[in-house]
Parts: sequence; C-alpha cells; structure tokens
Amino acid sequence: MTHARITGTGSYLPEKVLTNFDLEKFVDTSDQWIRERTGIEKRHVAIEGQSTVDLAERAARNAIDSAGIKPQDIDLIVVATTTPDRIFPSTACLLQSRLDVHGCPAFDIQAVCTGFVYALGVAEKFIKSGSSRRALVVGAETLSRLLNWNDRSTCVLFGDGAGAVVLEASEEPGILSTHLHADGDYEALLRVPYGVSQGFEAMDEVNSKIEMRGNEVFKMAVNTLGRIVDETLAANELEKTDIDWLVPHQANIRIIQATARKLKMPMERVVVTVQEHGNTSAASVPLALDTAVRDGRIQRGELLLLEAFGGGFTWGSALLRY
Ligand code: UT7
Repeated sequence: MTHARITGTGSYLPEKVLTNFDLEKFVDTSDQWIRERTGIEKRHVAIEGQSTVDLAERAARNAIDSAGIKPQDIDLIVVATTTPDRIFPSTACLLQSRLDVHGCPAFDIQAVCTGFVYALGVAEKFIKSGSSRRALVVGAETLSRLLNWNDRSTCVLFGDGAGAVVLEASEEPGILSTHLHADGDYEALLRVPYGVSQGFEAMDEVNSKIEMRGNEVFKMAVNTLGRIVDETLAANELEKTDIDWLVPHQANIRIIQATARKLKMPMERVVVTVQEHGNTSAASVPLALDTAVRDGRIQRGELLLLEAFGGGFTWGSALLRY
C-alpha cells in the first residue's frame, strides 16, 4: 500500500517584528494582558510590497531543500491561505510560476486556521490514489492585512508567516489518518464580513477586517479540539500515551494547554511557537512542525498529532508517523 510521508519541512517569518511593547504605543493594551491571556510575545509582519506568495516561496524552497529534491520533482501544489495575493490566479499558481514548475495541478484551499490540515488531508488523498507522487503543501498568510488596529480584541492576536512540507509517496507509513470537519453555522463568531461578490463599493475599512467574539470562539475551540483528539485516537485504536508530539494550531497558549491536558501530555511534548509569531492562521501548524524538526525535538519514526480549529468553523487533525 502506498503511504504519504513528509520528507521535508520549511518555514519563513518576515523580518519585521512587532512586540507587545511596540503595540502598547498605539493600541490600548499591555504586554502583561497579551502574555497572560494568549502567550503571545511578538508577531512578524510583512512589509509593504511583501505578499503571501513571497512568504510561501521562502517556506516552500526550505521544504524542497530539506527533502533533497528539485522544485521540478513536485507534481502537486496545494496552498492553504485566507489572504491570497490575487482574486485569481490562485496563490498556488503564482507559487508554481515562482518555482519554475509547469503543468502539475496547483490550487488554493480556504479553511482559515484549519487550512494546512485540510491541505494535508487533500494532498494525502492525491498521493494514496496514485494521482501524485510528490506534493508541496503550504500554509501561508499575511493576516496583518486583515487587522483593524482600532480593535484591541483582535489586532494583538495575529501575525504573518508561512510553513510548508513535501509529502511523498512511500512504502513506509507516514500520514495514518486525517479528520476534517466544518460547521457553517458559526460565521457570526469569527469572520471578515466583506467579500468580492458584494461588489467593491460595499467594502469599507471596518467590514474588510477580522471580527471575532473571542471568548465564545475560545470555548468552542477547547471543546471541539478535545473531541477531535478522541476521534483521531479511536480511529487508529491508539491510547493517549502513544502520541510522541502534539503539534497544535498556535492561537492561544491556554487553548493549547487545554488540549494537552485532555491528552494527558506534559507541555514538554507539545510544540509551542505562539509566543514567537501569534496566530498565523494556516501557517501556524507547519511553522510549529518545522521549528521542532529543525531544532531536533521531533525525530524520524515518532508519532505526531497535528490539530487546528478556525473560522467557518472548520477543524481537523492529522495523525502521522514522522
Ligand atoms: O484561530 C482560531 C480562532 N481564534 C482563536 O482561537 C482565539 C480564541 N479566543 C481567545 O484566544 C481569547 O478569547 C482572547 C485572547 C481573544 C480573549 O481572551 P478572554 O480571556 O476570552 O478575554 P475576554 O474576551 O473575555 O475579555 C476580557 C477583558 C475585556 O474587558 P472587560 O469587559 O472584562 O472589562 C476586554 O475588553 O479583556 C479586555 N481586552 C483587552 N485588554 C487589554 C480585550 N482585548 C484586550 C487587549 N488588551 N488587547
């Protein structure tokens, strides 16, 4: 049986950094509040002219290098993003051109913070069905473009970044299962209300920015992630103690800690990068994965549980043997 295995990881954070102390100067907030309520210490922000595909390209090239292949070996490109460079072409097509890859399928996935887990699930199915042998799966965001800097309840939470993996057909086990879900009834809790089908004249400074009822989202995220952990373990007939590493969506340290408690995992086995970059939406899971692979924490053969929750609502998990 053909498996889909991660053979390379990469990530990229823009050079420009905004610390909590920087935010204190123009937002009615404090380093103490942000740190205590979210765990975030700073976020990286794309400079003017720097776009999602710029970040995606850096992360993708890092992943391709670490897999020891050439861009032209890639036969599928999936980019998860909520902040595409253009209405069209897709960011995946723009990335394909940057990488000088031609002809293979390339498309975007929009599942907000769960985007990378969705993209991984889709690419895995392409590989297992024999349609692809080497997929590039990217999560990339310039979420700072969607922030209302007058709304302290959202603007301190998000940042920009990109992460990527190369997923290859292999005889050895890789991804063991993915679990993807959505419930569209929760739009009012987390959204950007404006969309192009309303016509550009309907767009204004406020309706084109993120709106969130944070506390309600928080409670839903904690409960839903707890359930998906159970679903993933049951589907694979595994015990909590079998998981070597939890690689969660990096939105809030308190949500991450709640999921770790549910798994009875000590925080030493949980990859936490939220302090470095805040919530980077679709980029956050691959950013965390790449960080722990490169610093040597995650080793070949270990069992990883990736999970995410976000706008839609969408949520999902991937269990994999690294
Ligand atoms: O990626 C998936 C989607 N997003 C998430 O997963 C985020 C989920 N939500 C959260 O992470 C948390 O709900 C927040 C960090 C957004 C907020 O934390 P909270 O503990 O739920 O606080 P709260 O919304 O209940 O607000 C508590 C207080 C309020 O003041 P009052 O009404 O108690 O006087 C807010 O006005 O904190 C105030 N507040 C702030 N104070 C200083 C809200 N934002 C700020 C701020 N600085 N930036």
